[in-house]
Amino acid sequence: MRMYDIIKKKRDGSALSKEEIDFFIKGYVDGSIPDYQASAFCMAVFYSGMTEEETANLTLSMAHSGDTVDLSRFGTLSADKHSTGGVGDKTTLIVAPICASLGCVMAKMSGRGLGHTGGTIDKLESIEGFNTSLSPDEFFNQVEKTGIAVVGQTGNLTPADKKLYALRDVTATVDSLPLIASSIMSKKLAAGAHNIVLDVKCGSGAFMKTPEDAEALATDMVKIGKMCGRNTAAVITNMNRPLGNNIGNALEVQEAMDVLKNSGPEDLKEVCLALATEIVSSTKGTSREEASNLTKDSLKSGKAYDKFMEWVKAQGATQNELSFKKADYTHDVISETDGYIVSSDAEKIGISAVILGAGREKKEDTIDMSAGIILNKKTVDKVNKGDVIATLYSCNKNSFESAEKQFLDALEFSENEPTNEPLIYTVVK
Ligand code: URA
Repeated sequence: MRMYDIIKKKRDGSALSKEEIDFFIKGYVDGSIPDYQASAFCMAVFYSGMTEEETANLTLSMAHSGDTVDLSRFGTLSADKHSTGGVGDKTTLIVAPICASLGCVMAKMSGRGLGHTGGTIDKLESIEGFNTSLSPDEFFNQVEKTGIAVVGQTGNLTPADKKLYALRDVTATVDSLPLIASSIMSKKLAAGAHNIVLDVKCGSGAFMKTPEDAEALATDMVKIGKMCGRNTAAVITNMNRPLGNNIGNALEVQEAMDVLKNSGPEDLKEVCLALATEIVSSTKGTSREEASNLTKDSLKSGKAYDKFMEWVKAQGATQNELSFKKADYTHDVISETDGYIVSSDAEKIGISAVILGAGREKKEDTIDMSAGIILNKKTVDKVNKGDVIATLYSCNKNSFESAEKQFLDALEFSENEPTNEPLIYTVVK
């Protein structure tokens, strides 16, 4: 078999066999297939697409390219959630303890921030003492005791995806449906959970810009999960504007804790309850209605908050009451006009938070955990001239000018009241 022939076959629109896909993945991971051929392969897939069978084969080949996590000791109770990435998306911090408080086993791996989107592992590291790299024994002991652990991705999980994702990032081949679906699902399959719920974000701050594209991606991923014997569902949610009001690591943990105390912003709570409902209903086999009541009750009764505190303490948090370092400087963004906000572009707001220090511009950058933005107003809200639209937080005073410019560029105003878009478009099962 030759990589040249595989690239040519895909370029000309034919479907690849399982053997050809396995040959590519194995060769790319062991270094016998060079980056330039892998780039050409990704571009051929970008233009020619893949059949469902090819996408499933690519997913399985990547899932088995390295270590896999064995969660079989938890039977069918293990559950995982995955977000395709957004701004202000702190749902794991809320959904995981809700579900664990109801008996689901949340043994989870999460990622760091990427570009304008934040990552759960960075957020958790804003909690003093929290350890995101447990050994396998520590991980399993904690899950057995508390029903919940969240760690960073281990060294050799899906090495094929790690290499391919980095390559796609610099060859303009990230936004290909079969490549995204196989990248995400290979990691979920390797991470071992029996129940998988995907939060497929849709809008300006997401890979998928329209509900139709998001549904196509969700449908492919759900099919792959089911084909591999996992209960899989996807919730398509709005990412035309940030989720909740806080963006930035420590600020997001604090907002997540508000929701866990059954307060906090309604949009964030609604998305979290929708995701938790899918996880609980698929893991416990209850109806959606019953699962929805259970998840709401977990927030109201304080069970979810207690589980969150049990979790973070088990994983190293040193304080009994969590407190967070405040940013050295703050800066209010003031409205210069009267009207309604008709658009608050999530990607641009995410970039503004990165400028303040909440994310990395280069891989080796360190994060300012206290940096970020608290929104007072966002899409559909009315503003008057002189209102504080948002407050910026940073330890670098010099970042405010460019962060504010970027932030204001994300907003569009109108005299007319806009209609609100749905927060949750649909559930794919
Ligand atoms: N997230 C992933 O893990 N992979 C992709 O390809 C896109 C988003």
